[in-house]
Amino acid sequence: MQKTLITGGAGYIGSHAAKALSQLGREVVVLDSLVAGHRDFLKWGEFENGDLADPAFLKSVFSKHDIGEVLHFAAFIAVGESVEKPELYYGNNVRNTLNLLDAMMAADVKRLVFSSTAAVYGEPVTDVIAEDHPLSPLSPYAWSKRMIEQILADFDHAYGLKHVCLRYFNAAGADLDGEIGERHQPETHLIPLILHAALGLRDNITIFGTDYPTPDGTCLRDYIHVTDLADAHVKALEYLIKGGDSRAFNLGNGNGFSVREIIDVAREVSGREIPVTESTRRPGDSPALVSSAAAARDILGWKPQFGDVRDIVRTAWNWHQKDLA
Ligand SMILES: NC(=O)c1ccc[n+]([C@@H]2O[C@H](COP(=O)([O-])OP(=O)(O)OC[C@H]3O[C@@H](n4cnc5c(N)ncnc54)[C@H](O)[C@@H]3O)[C@@H](O)[C@H]2O)c1
Repeated sequence: MQKTLITGGAGYIGSHAAKALSQLGREVVVLDSLVAGHRDFLKWGEFENGDLADPAFLKSVFSKHDIGEVLHFAAFIAVGESVEKPELYYGNNVRNTLNLLDAMMAADVKRLVFSSTAAVYGEPVTDVIAEDHPLSPLSPYAWSKRMIEQILADFDHAYGLKHVCLRYFNAAGADLDGEIGERHQPETHLIPLILHAALGLRDNITIFGTDYPTPDGTCLRDYIHVTDLADAHVKALEYLIKGGDSRAFNLGNGNGFSVREIIDVAREVSGREIPVTESTRRPGDSPALVSSAAAARDILGWKPQFGDVRDIVRTAWNWHQKDLA
């Protein structure tokens, strides 16, 4: 059986995909430098410890293993940092993806699932965002993902690289068995930050902007459970293996929840006080980012299991209580 290579498989979302694929009986190789990944998330498949910046290492991985397809999660992910240090993001996300593609082409591996992001759309011009929404990234991070999408299209044209770009909305939640979960350092995502405040690990949670044109004045986001994301990767791989054409799919639940609503849900789920401070808007934050994921449902047959944001927050709370105890 050919193996699936998972770059960034020691990270938050990649480790959930490694688990999902292994549970289906597929052979998995995780490639990770551990720059932001975690040794204790390496529970499934074989591990290759190295950096995408190293072409000789990549060549050795592709000659050692019979790789059938690649799930490419490895990247730097902090939007704010990308504004301050764009060279890090174009270097690690774009240049190192080119290294990966070179190694794939040399080994004749022609299937890839890429972790893209809703951030490629920029400021929404429609209430609900479908894949044909204009792409106007607002940060070097989002630009790096947009550039990679274009590079993949060009590699398909030139070399027949069949690929799926999965544009995640807000990934959240944790493995139901509590084996892995969200652990970013520094943490920049809303739900873990709220739960850190619930656990007393930070004094409060700051709401940036309370005067947006939304029902309660705070930003609306579309939260999608990490296990549902992992399942979408399994379905995208199956789609490519069956000969599906290259394309992008949104991954979201199609519902917007405001920052205040998420804080209230976290209070309810945790039973804890969560002190809030209010601040001004951050540049680049859209009032609302809500997906249409109809294409993933119709074409991939993907059905997210966590439609209720309470269930998403509950799995995150279970994980954080254990992880940060
Ligand atoms: N977390 C989200 O809400 C979200 C939303 C949209 C898109 N994404 C994308 O999903 C992917 C995974 O995100 P995550 O939240 O799991 O991040 P993460 O930081 O937890 O995982 C990324 C992993 O990649 C590894 N890595 C980074 N650069 C590497 C390199 N050069 N060589 C080898 N390994 C390297 C890190 O060590 C880490 O284990 C990223 O591409 C991210 O841009 C995430």
